[in-house]
Amino acid sequence: MRAYRSALLYFLPDDSLTYEPDGLLLTQADEHGVQRVRHVGPWSAELAQGFELEHWPGRIIAPGFVDLHIHYPQVDVIGSPAEGLLPWLEKYTFVQESRFADPLHAREVATFFLDEMQRHGVTTALTFCTSHAGSVDALMMQAQARGLRWIAGRCLMDRHAPDGVRDQTERSLLETEQLIDRWHGRGRLGYAITPRFVPSCSDAQLAGAGELAAAHPGVWIQSHVAENRDEIEWVRQLHPKARSYLAVYQQFGLLRPRSIYAHGIHFDDTDRQLMRDSGAAVAVCPTSNLFLGSGFFDVVAADRIGMAYGLASDVGGGTSFSPFHTMMATYYVGREGQGKTGCSISPQALWFAHTAGAARALGLQGVVGNLLPGCEADFVLIDPKATPLLARRVAQAQSLDELLFALIVLGDDRLIERTVHAGALSASAGG
Ligand code: GUN
Ligand code: ZN
Repeated sequence: MRAYRSALLYFLPDDSLTYEPDGLLLTQADEHGVQRVRHVGPWSAELAQGFELEHWPGRIIAPGFVDLHIHYPQVDVIGSPAEGLLPWLEKYTFVQESRFADPLHAREVATFFLDEMQRHGVTTALTFCTSHAGSVDALMMQAQARGLRWIAGRCLMDRHAPDGVRDQTERSLLETEQLIDRWHGRGRLGYAITPRFVPSCSDAQLAGAGELAAAHPGVWIQSHVAENRDEIEWVRQLHPKARSYLAVYQQFGLLRPRSIYAHGIHFDDTDRQLMRDSGAAVAVCPTSNLFLGSGFFDVVAADRIGMAYGLASDVGGGTSFSPFHTMMATYYVGREGQGKTGCSISPQALWFAHTAGAARALGLQGVVGNLLPGCEADFVLIDPKATPLLARRVAQAQSLDELLFALIVLGDDRLIERTVHAGALSASAGG
């Protein structure tokens, strides 16, 4: 039983963000050893009685951030410039990913990656591994040892990729099934079936992925869609009869709740309706889209149709692990008004899309991304005075929106004073 006294930021059941300047958060371990929120609200000495108290004056407790799309093997790809997505994949990404045939390399990068996620306040991420099963084992072992709620999968890519990363159809599906058995539901871990994208998967591989998805409704699906114009043209040539890029995934049974598609930039409204009606969600990856020149996600159209989405770093196309940088870039991309309708996204909407909204996209609402009673106690301790400029700006904030915007615009890993994980004492805790 633990008690934390600090300012608090969390979402009410109607999704509005609330700020408690002097708050109390009580957590208690469940039967699996996972700390869960028991109470959240204004400070009360009476309620805190009997709990081990930590008092953090001048700090803000907020839900841990949820990153909907990231490639852990691309840590060493960040900042590799190219003309666009396809040359970037060929020149840098596949080269780095081929190194994950070596389990020692995978372990070293997985350790670095999870340390970095923690430093930036990300407590859950839907993560691409490489086409080597060992790359999943390396990450999952580390995540399990740390008691994290983490979701990851082995990349499926049996064509249009070089030796070293290209896999074989049958073996790739067999290994996926073995990895689901080994990792899904173990501790707080989850598995994601991971077809890389349509151009890198044969019809047989996509069909096999769809069959596995049907056999395992609780696992996630992650892939890429409609990111780049050359990529879309390639898909059109490969699948000339498909109505759209997204429709190819539908054809193979890969659109459903718990399926997350990165980018979704070059969608029409029929695609957006298909996403909405199938229960799938988009991982919006603005730092990646700006870096690779892919385009601007249309948040106005997504909201108009009611398509679900959440935020993601997409490292290594993305340029930062920081949720603050991703929220800032989402704001920039939202403002773009030449090729689509521009808007000024509210700071509360940005924060929601990187916490409770992202959790909802994963089907993990009430589990992570918020601090309401029953949620797993994954949270961050934010220091709003972490830099001189931020301290100065925050001191003059007149409203919650002004405080949040200051944090988003001026924030980075320096603000994350601590990341607290709910943990899991029992390796067999179900999720
Ligand atoms: N499409 C297929 N693979 C990738 C990848 O690794 N990164 C991005 N941004 N898009 C992709
Ligand atoms: Zn990606």
